[in-house]
Amino acid sequence: MRLADIKTIFHQELDSLYERNEVDAFFYRMVEHYLMLERFVLVVQPDYTLTKAQEQPLFEGLAQLKLEKPLQYILGRAFFLDMELKVNEHVLIPRPETEELVRWLITECHNKKTGLGILDVGTGSGCIAIALAKHFSSARVDAMDVSEKALAVALENAKQHKVAINSVLDDIGQAQTQEKYDLVVSNPPYVREQEKRDIKNNVKKYEPGLALFVSDQKPLIFYQAIVEFCRKNLKPGGMLFLEINQYLAKETQQILVDNLFQEVELRKDIFGNFRFLKGRKGE
Ligand SMILES: C[S@@+](CC[C@H](N)C(=O)[O-])C[C@H]1O[C@@H](n2cnc3c(N)ncnc32)[C@H](O)[C@@H]1O
Repeated sequence: MRLADIKTIFHQELDSLYERNEVDAFFYRMVEHYLMLERFVLVVQPDYTLTKAQEQPLFEGLAQLKLEKPLQYILGRAFFLDMELKVNEHVLIPRPETEELVRWLITECHNKKTGLGILDVGTGSGCIAIALAKHFSSARVDAMDVSEKALAVALENAKQHKVAINSVLDDIGQAQTQEKYDLVVSNPPYVREQEKRDIKNNVKKYEPGLALFVSDQKPLIFYQAIVEFCRKNLKPGGMLFLEINQYLAKETQQILVDNLFQEVELRKDIFGNFRFLKGRKGE
């Protein structure tokens, strides 16, 4: 079948579920991924024709898109900063906001001494830990998660990007390590049950609940646990960077203030929402 005809079928099948330009993006990303063809192939070769074997993954992908499966899970790959990472149903798909958090951290900390000890709490795919291990090449980077299957993905990604991270299978609420860190960073679960109605179907159906949701009664439980952990395990003068729930920004900031963090700063994302927080532990 001609590739152009498959594109028409994608639109016929998917335009009621997704925006038209989103369907184009899905189609061309699959063409790149499965056929290793540049996306301008149809401009230069409008009659480009596929064999049955070449068509098959495109039609299988189409069937999964109809079930609202995120494209990244279909392909098993997601982009984060300048990296392509493996993802599966055990890890959150890395988000652009988290790229902003990492960029902020790197800008704030680029003068820091060598040999830093860094901990990423709730590492998931390892996106934050791996980006930091690449940037701070002399650092020791620990990547903690309560999910063994997520840690396996993070380690695979680290290997693929040729950096070393140490996987730490632990619950941040119970962690007993004696390790001391210069930098702690986290994008923990923070979506309240009451906010589920605002979350897209494809996220609710396919992304791990363990990575996303917290109870309405204790929505800041992870921030409290992280700050408690930092009381013992973050060195004096060490920095804490967090991605936060925009609707609970002030309350989250207060946890740091109440625990004697200094230079506490909330930061907005590109959409103007308070999504990031940092603080320095008092000397
Ligand atoms: C929002 S996801 C962030 C994943 C990744 N860091 C990112 O930014 O894409 C939160 C992660 O925290 C992990 N997690 C959930 N409960 C945890 C706990 N009690 N201790 C440590 N990690 C936990 C989840 O398994 C998930 O990987």
